[in-house]
Amino acid sequence: MRLAGRMAHLTPSPSFTTLARAKAMEAAGHDIIHLEVGEPDFDTPANVVEAGVAALRGGHTRYTPAAGEMALRSAIARHVGDTRDVDVAPTQILVAPGGKPVIYYTIMALVEAGDEVILPDPTFPSYATITAYAGATPVHVPLDAERGFAFDVDAFAAALSPRTRLVVLNSPSNPTGAVLSADDLAAIARLLADRPDVVVLADEIYSRMVYDGVHRSILTESGMAERTVVLDGFSKTYAMTGWRLGYAVLPPALAPILIDLQSNITSCAADATQVAGLAALDGPQADVEAMVHTFRSRRDRVVARLNELPGIRCALPAGAFYAFPDIRGTGLDDLTLADELLTHTGVALLAGRGFGPAGAGHLRLSYANAMSNLDRALDRMGEHLTTLARAGA
Ligand SMILES: Cc1ncc(COP(=O)(O)O)c(C=O)c1O
Repeated sequence: MRLAGRMAHLTPSPSFTTLARAKAMEAAGHDIIHLEVGEPDFDTPANVVEAGVAALRGGHTRYTPAAGEMALRSAIARHVGDTRDVDVAPTQILVAPGGKPVIYYTIMALVEAGDEVILPDPTFPSYATITAYAGATPVHVPLDAERGFAFDVDAFAAALSPRTRLVVLNSPSNPTGAVLSADDLAAIARLLADRPDVVVLADEIYSRMVYDGVHRSILTESGMAERTVVLDGFSKTYAMTGWRLGYAVLPPALAPILIDLQSNITSCAADATQVAGLAALDGPQADVEAMVHTFRSRRDRVVARLNELPGIRCALPAGAFYAFPDIRGTGLDDLTLADELLTHTGVALLAGRGFGPAGAGHLRLSYANAMSNLDRALDRMGEHLTTLARAGA
């Protein structure tokens, strides 16, 4: 079948590809430890599940307005206003079936052939894929690996060109866990001050998972609210990946455009899911706090143990639930080591190059798994790497 040329740019999401392979091995009887998937291993808080079930029983089974139910949009606007210290109107909120559609809508609405989209490198793979799919050019700006993948303001300044149309920021970052500092955000806003034609997509889906310091948004910087799309959602914060619920905070001029796009593509987020989302935002936050606390202890332990493994160095990530160790000291490349670990030890994790050229030589390990499983995985990795090191000595 002849496909549209743009389909040549689509690559499957690396985590879904590895998950499929790991599941096939599991079905064949192997004991697999899943460190490849980017979703909390916690249950959705009980009050949220109850609200969703009650909504279904109560007839919330229909289309909603394309932008989402006003009660939820208002609650999100209040939440964003409180957490980012800005005034946001409910009409600026687009409720979407997950955070991912916001990436798609934003890129589709703004960029076309000849345009450039600046992306941190390494970063979440969908940005580059959808940019190329839209016919535009992804421009990878390396993060500073020596400073725990901190933002490199000089590299960013050098990458800005007359063709730049969109800049993607992701803090806390998938895959590195790095968090943008106040200084970096101020420097980015300063550099963009004389480029009002450039829009920022700030992917803040991990905004509630910050262990050191606080979450900061570019939205707060002067002059940025008029041209920043913030992506956030419920998938990670409330362990709701399968419910499909995310949102965009949009500049007033862009809101009707993205709402029209959504009305043509997905219509709206599911009705009962939106009711559950409202219960999540308005209800007790103790489950979220407990989950974040648990992630923090796992992070400390996983990173400490990774740094004891031969050939591995790992920076302490300030947020999200990923570690991104440098594995170049093992003498293997990331694709080979990820493949060996899955095949020989049953530990499923991801090769860093799937997140961009600067990710090569690293692995992404999600610590959204029980401490006992993380310990078992690190034991197995340790045995494998020690055998490798002995064979090489
Ligand atoms: C950085 C980043 N943005 C967006 C998403 C998409 O989230 P959702 O499941 O809500 O579509 C993810 C999920 O892994 C992510 O890591």
